[in-house]
Amino acid sequence: MKKLSKSFIIRFIIPIIGLYSQYNINQMSVLNNFSLKDKIIVITGGTGILGEFFVKAVAEAGAKVAVLGRNLERAEKRVEAVKKIGGEAIAVITDVMDEDSVRAAKEEVLNHFGTIDGLVNAAGGNIPGATIGPDTDLFGSDVQATIKAVELNLFGTIIPTHVFGQVIAEKGEGSIINISSLAASRPLTRVLGYTVAKHGIEGYTKWMAAELALRYGEKVRVNAIAPGVFLTEQNRTLLTTPEGGYTERAQKFINGTPYQRLGDPSELEGTLVYLLSNASAFVTGETVFVDGGFNSWCGV
Ligand SMILES: NC(=O)c1ccc[n+]([C@@H]2O[C@H](COP(=O)([O-])OP(=O)(O)OC[C@H]3O[C@@H](n4cnc5c(N)ncnc54)[C@H](O)[C@@H]3O)[C@@H](O)[C@H]2O)c1
Repeated sequence: MKKLSKSFIIRFIIPIIGLYSQYNINQMSVLNNFSLKDKIIVITGGTGILGEFFVKAVAEAGAKVAVLGRNLERAEKRVEAVKKIGGEAIAVITDVMDEDSVRAAKEEVLNHFGTIDGLVNAAGGNIPGATIGPDTDLFGSDVQATIKAVELNLFGTIIPTHVFGQVIAEKGEGSIINISSLAASRPLTRVLGYTVAKHGIEGYTKWMAAELALRYGEKVRVNAIAPGVFLTEQNRTLLTTPEGGYTERAQKFINGTPYQRLGDPSELEGTLVYLLSNASAFVTGETVFVDGGFNSWCGV
């Protein structure tokens, strides 16, 4: 009996334990790839509604966060929220359209944290004056407002990428995330400048991804997230009525989404952490749609 149990242990129990621990180690190392522990992540538009979720998500994944925004009070609120969950963050006043302001922000982040590992370009959105309603004369519409919308959404991404991206590129490792939109694959009525800019972001993401990989190596990556429709400050007037219901436009978005609803900003968090982390090491130049199926459905 004693002999049998010894051979049983050697032949069956030990290999099973070995396999089980191997499985656990592999499983852990896969999960570890998603960690942002001690990474320094800069988030422009960190004061916005999607920005709030981005700041929280990267902090929960272990990163130290630089919350960039034009409004100090709102940026400090985000910092407090990170500190409440035991994380580390700083608020940095920055206008992404002003290169000097972005360069000053870079110095502030470097002085505080010493390096930069990731950038999330979340400043942007539609500008109310740039909306071309169905009753607006298309050819008489406000071209200057459209230019401003392009500038904010496209150059408001390019300027920070060139300033913070230089630190990442010279370090030889890091991840940059641009925020695109459904408007980048199919034009959205009314928002000409926004549509043009988001198309530009897709082109810029691919262009920059190739340039950075060729010049600085495969550890310097750029990707984009294309969120579906999420109710935030920049689209509230387009999507909700003064009484708080959905506009016809919001209902059209819902009808065009297989999930039959708008998104919840928390549903962007996993994709953001994945693209910032080593889990997406072989992914660059891509746009990931997080849209409940809107972009993949013809509506029938
Ligand atoms: N909400 C959506 O449904 C949706 C969908 C697709 C893409 N997006 C994109 O996500 C990003 C975030 O938008 P959001 O919905 O959270 O809007 P939001 O208005 O809540 O946040 C945008 C933030 O950008 C900041 N910002 C604007 N101009 C700036 C400037 N010059 N310098 C610095 N900061 C500036 C604003 O102050 C604000 O904090 C935008 O690029 C937007 O186009 C949003």
